[in-house]
Amino acid sequence: MSIKDIITVPDETLKKISEPIEKVGENEKKLIHDLFETMYNSNGIGLAAVQVGILKRIVVIDISTKDGKKKPMSFINPSIKKISDETSVYEEGCLSIPNTFIKIERPKTCEVEYIDIEGNKKNLICDGLLSTCLQHEINHLDGKLIIDHLSKLKRDLIIKKISKFKESPDRIIV
Ligand code: NI
Repeated sequence: MSIKDIITVPDETLKKISEPIEKVGENEKKLIHDLFETMYNSNGIGLAAVQVGILKRIVVIDISTKDGKKKPMSFINPSIKKISDETSVYEEGCLSIPNTFIKIERPKTCEVEYIDIEGNKKNLICDGLLSTCLQHEINHLDGKLIIDHLSKLKRDLIIKKISKFKESPDRIIV
């Protein structure tokens, strides 16, 4: 297993559409393990393969890290089959957009079809944080980011700020 580098905006790869997996093999299993390791290392609760520069429709999530007991969930080719009319709002961050939190309204519950790590077709009805997190990650697979919910002006400002931050080699975090 290895920790991979997470790409950040304005990397153009984040805008690309990820390819479906045809067969779950050793490469996919290894990638899933690497994604978990990378996500835990960055204290994230979700990560899509595109965020480590790999355009495959694979997502990992663990929304239960705070209580100390890990509950890893992986989703291959996830797709949303049903959404609720009722919505909920979370303040969302993203490992590919440092220091940025945006309030986003999404369907409160959703039904997701996916393939698990053993290659079995599954169905899951999600609510609350899991529902929001899965919708956020599936957006990644379609090249959509949380900043795309903002106006172009606000989006450009955030990208400019992040680019500037990356360009200052003098800045240290200790
Ligand atoms: Ni994200």
